[in-house]
Amino acid sequence: MAMTTSTSSSARRRRTRRPVLDVRDVSRVYRPTPDHEVRALDGVSLRVHRGDHVAIMGTSGSGKSTLMHLLGCLDAPSSGRYLLDGVDVAGVEENDLSDLRNRKIGFVFQAFNLIPRTSALANVELPLVYAGVSRTERRQRATAALRAVGMGSRLDHLPSELSGGQQQRVAVARAIVTDPPLILADEPTGNLDSRSTEDVLTIFDRLRDQGRTLVIITHEDDVAARARRVIRLGDGRIVADSAAAATPVATRHAAEREAAA
Ligand SMILES: Nc1ncnc2c1ncn2[C@@H]1O[C@H](COP(=O)(O)OP(=O)(O)OP(=O)(O)O)[C@@H](O)[C@H]1O
Ligand SMILES: [Mg+2]
Repeated sequence: MAMTTSTSSSARRRRTRRPVLDVRDVSRVYRPTPDHEVRALDGVSLRVHRGDHVAIMGTSGSGKSTLMHLLGCLDAPSSGRYLLDGVDVAGVEENDLSDLRNRKIGFVFQAFNLIPRTSALANVELPLVYAGVSRTERRQRATAALRAVGMGSRLDHLPSELSGGQQQRVAVARAIVTDPPLILADEPTGNLDSRSTEDVLTIFDRLRDQGRTLVIITHEDDVAARARRVIRLGDGRIVADSAAAATPVATRHAAEREAAA
């Protein structure tokens, strides 16, 4: 490989290699009562690059959802730093944080979290309402997102009139309707049968092929098998990271030097 000596091109390379998610020695301690402390995350460091597809696994209570909430700026670390697309979220005001979340992140939850008694179309339009998109454009984009997940014929159905797999596909449409670069999913297929699981995973594969970054929590080996990288949590710590294991030492040292710079 040819060496590059141009500063501008190496600077450009470094910029494009900036991680989307940069978690630095983060801990999250819950204090349900003054004399009881739960260290849900304990010194976690993690970098995820654009277009990566990461599965997070680990036993119940190992800290997966806690990590997901931090990554999604729904919660803040007790210590350590978290940079989302280069921005330290600790310095961002709550209003700007909601805006950042809305623009950059699409969430999919295990329990779908659709609004009951509200049509599939209106559910998917909701993030666009927050983003201040006009009614006509909202309708067009939400319809397109629902078609993209194969739900074009169920626009006016209420969540209660949809199967679990269909509700999850509506939830995925809601997550992608704002065209976010990052999708965070917490056990998106945990409540689905194998056929619906396959449907949702196929949609995720397509999103990854479009260059979006996917972080998916799962208990299921076949879901994790589709990811490029698998991170395992145990007792609030990263106990295994397939990307770290696969990265040659020299590359890792270079990455550490870059992180320290
Ligand atoms: N709001 C909270 N207050 C106190 N403790 C909490 C709170 N949320 C989570 N915990 C504790 O933090 C630990 C990590 O919880 P978390 O929800 O992140 O686990 P998880 O890996 O997502 O588990 P599961 O696979 O069961 O969803 C658990 O011991 C849990 O009891
Ligand atoms: Mg969880």
